[in-house]
Amino acid sequence: MEKTVTRIVIPNYHVILIHFPLGLLGIGLLIELLSFLWKKSSFHLAGRWMILLGTLALAPLVTSGIFALYDVATHGADDGDTWAQVKIDSHFADTDWHLVRNHILRGAIGSGIALVAVCGWIAACDPNRRRFYWPVLIALLAAMGLITSAAWHGGEMVFRQGFGVAGKLDIAEANPTADDPNAVMSFKDKFDTAISPMQIHLILAGLVVAGAMATMALSIRRTQESVSVPPPPVADGIQTQFAQNPTDLLAPLPKVDPPALSTPGRFWLLVAALTLATIILGFYVGDFLIWPKIIDTRHLQHAFTNLQTPGRRRMGLHIIFGTLILVISLLLAIQARWKPAQRMMVGIFSSTLALVIAAQIWMGILLLYDSDRGSVAHFNPPPAPPISGSSASANQ
Ligand code: HEM
Ligand code: HEM
Repeated sequence: MEKTVTRIVIPNYHVILIHFPLGLLGIGLLIELLSFLWKKSSFHLAGRWMILLGTLALAPLVTSGIFALYDVATHGADDGDTWAQVKIDSHFADTDWHLVRNHILRGAIGSGIALVAVCGWIAACDPNRRRFYWPVLIALLAAMGLITSAAWHGGEMVFRQGFGVAGKLDIAEANPTADDPNAVMSFKDKFDTAISPMQIHLILAGLVVAGAMATMALSIRRTQESVSVPPPPVADGIQTQFAQNPTDLLAPLPKVDPPALSTPGRFWLLVAALTLATIILGFYVGDFLIWPKIIDTRHLQHAFTNLQTPGRRRMGLHIIFGTLILVISLLLAIQARWKPAQRMMVGIFSSTLALVIAAQIWMGILLLYDSDRGSVAHFNPPPAPPISGSSASANQ
């Protein structure tokens, strides 16, 4: 008999990803607050890295949360309904929605504040970094408070209301063999059920957002630095110091200039590679990949032809925005390599990229929550209530 396949991680990867930003950002901020004890040590530097990595990890956490909500609201079944229908079928009580709203608002606002504060700090020139030290630190502490509160609401959702545990997530529904236990699952069905590629698509999209924001900041910072500065010797300094005494983490750093992380070119290539991976997975979940042609050109053509039909544009636009993110990242990589000090170019490309990413996330939310049909500006309206006359006659 066919062995039943269920998801490897129940309910979804959101519950794994929450640990990284909470842990890294929390400890990093604690080290920063106590840094007067070890002012110029590598310990302080490690704390700063934790703040950076913890903040960047918020972006995939939020995008995985977008999937998590769809996942629990549909009880694990992706049936292509509109959001209005999904909400009705979710059978969530008002308390559930109240917790969800608070969870999302606090998590999204906290993450937004932290990302803007940290990326703003990276982009700033040295005098501005000194001037804005306290405002940035206070913003990060406020963000940490909001994120902690979001996490508390998340815990309430899971452990008090039973979101994503047996009962709320009907695992049987997510299992394609649920109706017929003797049905033979194809390799693709098994893979999709166990791994859930849609989730990976969203986590990759979150990494693209984090990478693009940080690298944009780095590119802006780069325009303010002199192109002819030789690479600073600090890396060697740290290595020599650790080679002499690897356990002395609290020893002061050698007196050299701080490292200039001004290599946005290779980071842009990384962003482009992440975008490509997101696109490939997007084509996989959208059923655009077929063997041996690789890409289903008829399906692709269909998506582009539908761009002319109002109400059918969501998918085509998602493909166009995805491609634009890839192209602009590559242009920024080229710009960073050949014209690193060109402020105007960095400004135009970066702001276009930020707008396209925002539009892409919106289009993705519409596609995921509300199907590929409907306006690109808003969700589909709720189904019309049954006409009272007809229901009355039906009851008779
Ligand atoms: C900073 C942002 C966020 C943080 C720190 C956070 C944290 C958490 C935590 C701690 C849980 C409980 C997990 C457990 O204990 O098993 C949780 C669950 C959940 N979160 Fe978030 N979250 C964030 C953003 C979001 C967003 C933006 C959404 C939706 C758009 C979301 C949707 C959910 C859902 C539906 C659950 C229920 C369990 C699941 O399906 O994974 N979260 N979150
Ligand atoms: C860097 C960001 C992203 C890129 C490059 C990207 C790219 C793509 C591509 C090329 C496809 C296949 C075409 C299609 O089906 O429309 C796709 C599918 C999809 N994407 Fe994304 N995407 C991104 C972010 C997102 C986000 C943030 C979401 C959800 C919030 C999302 C949700 C979806 C959904 C639901 C599909 C499948 C649509 C279907 O069933 O046909 N995407 N993505």
